[in-house]
Amino acid sequence: MQHRARNAAVAAALAAALLGTAAGTTSAAERKAKDPLRERGRYLVMIGGCNDCHTPGYAPSGGKLDERQWLVGDSLGWRGPWGTTYPVNLRLFMQKLTEKEWVAEARHLQARPPMPWFALNVMTDGDLRAIYRFVRSLGPAGQPAPDYVPPDREPKPPYITFPAPPK
Ligand code: HEC
Repeated sequence: MQHRARNAAVAAALAAALLGTAAGTTSAAERKAKDPLRERGRYLVMIGGCNDCHTPGYAPSGGKLDERQWLVGDSLGWRGPWGTTYPVNLRLFMQKLTEKEWVAEARHLQARPPMPWFALNVMTDGDLRAIYRFVRSLGPAGQPAPDYVPPDREPKPPYITFPAPPK
């Protein structure tokens, strides 16, 4: 009888330990999923259209690409009177900055077309911090995008050519 009770106690302790471990893992995943700032960042990246240029294959997928593949930059060039630009790899870009540095930089950032840098300039600190949280939560991935090519130099294909502005 005593023996059985002890077994039951051991089983209960084991179950509790197992449950504890399971609960531990879930809550870590849940914490990540439920960090409201991260979720807001994900939402802002989606409605801000950042994936259109910074995520290869995103637009053709109809926005269905898994977030693990987001924001790795692209080697498809955008060629125009400004030269040829490449959407930077934001997963690597954010690794080099603290949240504070990112907010300060985004506030005054200027870049060449077609990057809508003026949209970043007018975002609230909260929105910028949210974007940072989200991109950092994805972790580093991919390769750096190709370097900018000045207008007088021929870029390597593939690139999209913008028509010359009207005269
Ligand atoms: C229409 C295409 C396009 C969209 C949309 C876009 N980007 Fe970009 N982005 C680019 C290109 C191209 C560059 C490189 C510009 C250059 O070389 O000057 C760039 C550069 C950047 C840079 C680096 C700027 C620097 O310091 O040189 C950041 C940060 C960035 N984008 C963030 C974003 C975020 C966040 C969004 C969404 C709100 C976004 N981009 C939407 C095309 C785009």
